[in-house]
Amino acid sequence: MASSRLLFLLSAILILIVQAIPQPTFFILQFCFDGNYTNNSTYEKNLNQLLSSLSSNTKIDRFFKSSYGQKPNEVYATVLCRGDLKPDVCRTLIKKSTELITQICPNRKEAIGISDTCMLRYSNRSSILNTMEINPQIVQANQFTVPSIYLNGFNDALRTLFRKLKSTAAAGDSLLKYATGNVTVPDFKTIYELVQCTPDLSYQDCNDCVDSAINQIAYCCDAREGGRIVSPSCTIRFEVYSFFEYTAPPPGPPPGPPPTNITITSKGNGSSKSRTVINQRE
Ligand SMILES: *[C@@H]1O[C@H](CO)[C@@H](O)[C@H](O)[C@H]1NC(C)=O
Ligand SMILES: *[C@@H]1O[C@H](CO)[C@@H](O)[C@H](O)[C@H]1NC(C)=O
Ligand SMILES: *[C@@H]1O[C@H](CO)[C@@H](O)[C@H](O)[C@H]1NC(C)=O
Ligand SMILES: *[C@@H]1O[C@H](CO)[C@@H](O)[C@H](O)[C@H]1NC(C)=O
Ligand SMILES: *[C@@H]1O[C@H](CO)[C@@H](O)[C@H](O)[C@H]1NC(C)=O
Ligand SMILES: *[C@@H]1O[C@H](CO)[C@@H](O)[C@H](O)[C@H]1NC(C)=O
Repeated sequence: MASSRLLFLLSAILILIVQAIPQPTFFILQFCFDGNYTNNSTYEKNLNQLLSSLSSNTKIDRFFKSSYGQKPNEVYATVLCRGDLKPDVCRTLIKKSTELITQICPNRKEAIGISDTCMLRYSNRSSILNTMEINPQIVQANQFTVPSIYLNGFNDALRTLFRKLKSTAAAGDSLLKYATGNVTVPDFKTIYELVQCTPDLSYQDCNDCVDSAINQIAYCCDAREGGRIVSPSCTIRFEVYSFFEYTAPPPGPPPGPPPTNITITSKGNGSSKSRTVINQRE
């Protein structure tokens, strides 16, 4: 009797705890650039048209570029999904991104919304459609650190595999520039790595963008078990668990990575700003 009452109480407490966990935000990070449009402006109408055309486009397969309207109110957009996503999953993420981005960056002429596996970007600059852009470089570090006795081996393995994946990704075609791999650090753990460039980049631009991201590791993620560096033109990520092979979403919440701190570094017009965001568990 007493134990069943206890069970009931316990389950009631559990339910309360589950309900108290905040809904994870869809975007793990976003960037709202300076420069506003006004309500009901032509720019706003063009942006809404463009976003709704993206959300209903059934031809998108992981990468897409688009524009809408007439200069000076023309709006340009790109979407990039992680290379292993099935097109229908990618399109679902794009739809969600288009719905959220203008709420998260209201009245902004340019914004980037990055979810775990998809990036949506729009701007009044046509250059976003055809220029390699390394900045802003958005950085997220896993909170767990590598024990110092394994650090040399870890760093060697990490960088060697990234160099290999960089070449593979850069050598991809105009539809996909993407590479993943894993390497086991002797007596320690296996590192899983991912490299992706927007497929419109040349071999050299992809190579340069990824080099710049790899160079960031020493600043953002030194001795960390994981990290992610995202810029408009390329992404790299490493973890000590496998995170890329896409499979059907499991029936419960996925085994999310641990909470991490995000730092955003933006360099433009000679000025440099940085902010840190405490991330929710994904
Ligand atoms: C984009 O909008 C910003 C902010 O209003 C403006 O300064 C810039 O000149 C615009 N760029 C283009 C290419 O229209
Ligand atoms: C631009 O719009 C945002 C959101 O409405 C607002 O917070 C910001 O102050 C505006 N910036 C300027 C320069 O008007
Ligand atoms: C925008 O249009 C709506 C409906 O047409 C109107 O209620 C609102 O006042 C307008 N806002 C501005 C800033 O003009
Ligand atoms: C613009 O519209 C949004 C919602 O549509 C509203 O929240 C905001 O106050 C409006 N801004 C101005 C300056 O009218
Ligand atoms: C993350 O940020 C919090 C708050 O600023 C800080 O207390 C914590 O040490 C940071 N963790 C890491 C791993 O940097
Ligand atoms: C790890 O890499 C090897 C090839 O180096 C591959 O056969 C294996 O499938 C990879 N494992 C995972 C989980 O990706």
